Amino acid sequence: MEWVVEANQLKKVYNGVKAVDGMDLRIKEGEIFGFLGPNGAGKTTTILMLLGLTEPTSGEVKVFGYNSTKNPLEVKRITGYLPENIGFYEDLTARENLIYITKLNGIPPSESAARVEEVLSVVGLSEVADKEAGKFSRGMLQRLGMAATLVKQPKLVILDEPTLGIDPEGVEQILNLIRKMKEEKNITILLSSHFLHQVQRICDRIGIVSQGKIVIEGSVDEVGEKIMGEGGTQIQVQVSQLTPGLLDSIKEIEGVRDIDVSGNFLNIRCDRDLRLEVSRAIVEKGCFPLLFKTQDYTLEEIYVRYFRER
Ligand SMILES: Nc1ncnc2c1ncn2[C@@H]1O[C@H](COP(=O)(O)OP(=O)(O)OP(=O)(O)O)[C@@H](O)[C@H]1O
Ligand SMILES: [Mg+2]
Repeated sequence: MEWVVEANQLKKVYNGVKAVDGMDLRIKEGEIFGFLGPNGAGKTTTILMLLGLTEPTSGEVKVFGYNSTKNPLEVKRITGYLPENIGFYEDLTARENLIYITKLNGIPPSESAARVEEVLSVVGLSEVADKEAGKFSRGMLQRLGMAATLVKQPKLVILDEPTLGIDPEGVEQILNLIRKMKEEKNITILLSSHFLHQVQRICDRIGIVSQGKIVIEGSVDEVGEKIMGEGGTQIQVQVSQLTPGLLDSIKEIEGVRDIDVSGNFLNIRCDRDLRLEVSRAIVEKGCFPLLFKTQDYTLEEIYVRYFRER
């Protein structure tokens, strides 16, 4: 299997300061990977190395098989990058800024206009395309930034804090746009962010970065299990009625720790997700489940727990 991003033991030392210290990172094609970690953890430095914008002190990073340090131009050609603070020419319109970017990227003029119109429409800026970028709000600028990364028709998009300083409606639009990039264009996305509930909503996998390396990675559930594992999981089920023997028969399921009953709601703490076994027991006792849910951990809880325990 070839990885879209593959970093092995990446290190970056700035005047004795270890900004990145043994980073191993693997991102699959078509996934949204959330890069999470506190300020100064080394996220941006890692991103700069995988774009070939800064050279690693040691280690190696490849993007679609290209070594970012040796072939930065190849990497640049297939990767769209939205830095934390993207700048535009304030006196050029949104459309003119994008046309300028297509020129910088060597996109032939015959293609450029159509591409620019398409991305303007994707990010919802067609109607203000003739407005000067200097007159854009922060949310509009960020959407223009997304348009600028998309106009290259990248296979990988790297977004560094794309929702910083954006109001809730704008955040919603940006998150939807990120999802759309993945679903409609199969673009692989690396999303660096501090906003855990946003990351939790859209990322397929996350990596928690601490002191220059990934300390835990996996789906939100997997990471939750690794960090909160001892806590097990909790199932909440509403049953049609509490029939005799029902509670005992649930307690007998292997992996069930205990049950709290409140009306016809059962809160079942167990080692793992036992919804199948629990529903079987409920049906066998002559009633049926009305509502079933597992109490998943929020990324917020996982994150706080992780960094509190260090
Ligand atoms: N050009 C530089 N020169 C010296 N030190 C640097 C440089 N860039 C980053 N650092 C240091 O490297 C460490 C990692 O910084 P980096 O910007 O990669 O963190 P980050 O995870 O992106 O943080 P944030 O969440 O604040 O954006 C920090 O201690 C930072 O001070
Ligand atoms: Mg950063």
